[in-house]
Amino acid sequence: MGEPLLSIDDLHVKFSRSEDEVYAVNGVSFTIDANEALGIVGESGSGKSVTLMSAIGLLRENGKITSGTANFQGQNLLKLRPKQLEDIRGRDIGVVFQDPMTSLNPIMRIGDQIMEAMLTHHYAGRKEAFERTLQLLHEMGIPDPKSRFKSYPHEFSGGMRQRIMIAIALACEPQLLIADEPTTALDVTVQMQILALLQDLRRKRGMSVVMVTHDFGLATNFCDNIIVMYGGQIMEKATTDQFIREAAHPYSLGLKRSIIEVGHKGKEILPIPKTAKTLTAALTGCPFADRCNYTTDRCRQEVPQLRAFGTNHELACHHAEEVACYVR
Ligand SMILES: Nc1ncnc2c1ncn2[C@@H]1O[C@H](COP(=O)(O)OP(=O)(O)O)[C@@H](O)[C@H]1O
Ligand code: SF4
Ligand SMILES: [Mg+2]
Repeated sequence: MGEPLLSIDDLHVKFSRSEDEVYAVNGVSFTIDANEALGIVGESGSGKSVTLMSAIGLLRENGKITSGTANFQGQNLLKLRPKQLEDIRGRDIGVVFQDPMTSLNPIMRIGDQIMEAMLTHHYAGRKEAFERTLQLLHEMGIPDPKSRFKSYPHEFSGGMRQRIMIAIALACEPQLLIADEPTTALDVTVQMQILALLQDLRRKRGMSVVMVTHDFGLATNFCDNIIVMYGGQIMEKATTDQFIREAAHPYSLGLKRSIIEVGHKGKEILPIPKTAKTLTAALTGCPFADRCNYTTDRCRQEVPQLRAFGTNHELACHHAEEVACYVR
């Protein structure tokens, strides 16, 4: 195996607010290889988006990376100047976020926006970029690409706009696609179409994908590896097969159970009690201790570190062995 395509190591990110600080990412490390699809799951507020945003230089003004590295093709992205990062974003790393910072320009025709992505990054000349734009619109399931080329973002539905964002992200055939809930707003047919297209790009071009999703079905169908985040930390990391068969972190088990129960009863029942808290101080114990069924004094006094738990499987829990015996 060669070097990973992207390697994030010990990332810490804090936000300042008027009264206090938010400890959003607290020592996250993971790698992604060429051609790999990695799924990141976890409840809202777990630090998924901030982790990815930080790595590609899209952190909000009140945020600060206090330590860590993010190596991509031999460069630490966290040390690059904004202009250098802009070059990488959109050319080598495609980005789809449901965030206004990366959304469409309201006064520019959508076709021109897709073309612009290719022209700014010198991926193609005008004629080729135009042809490829029509092709991308077609692949995104947008009917009549030639006339839709001239439409403005407000003339599209939310789902259609999301497809255009994906087209822009894929325009220069990036090596890595970072996608934060990219298909959530889309209906199932279009979602399947876009996932098939991503699979195809992975196969043909060896593209890698990091995908944040709350959809476990999507994560386990599409991704090779799964990371579960909570409290700005990685709680469990495994191959998808291991995760399906042997997840043993109490938080992952709660998440998995909530999915099964949603499916079974048709409405959401949260088997994890209480909701996630915003962390306003450095961790002194397990971030999940207030909500876990297995908490002991040790959990409140010692932050569990990510450790090996079988082959291709890591987790951060002091009592995973007992928990595994109990649930299996
Ligand atoms: N600009 C910001 N200022 C203050 N806190 C923030 C900001 N952005 C995110 N946070 C906080 O950082 C934590 C992680 O957020 P985020 O990465 O968006 O979670 P996720 O994507 O997993 O839902 C949350 O507690 C969130 O409230
Ligand atoms: S370390 Fe303790 S509180 Fe945290 S998940 Fe494991 S058992 Fe629960
Ligand atoms: Mg998010």
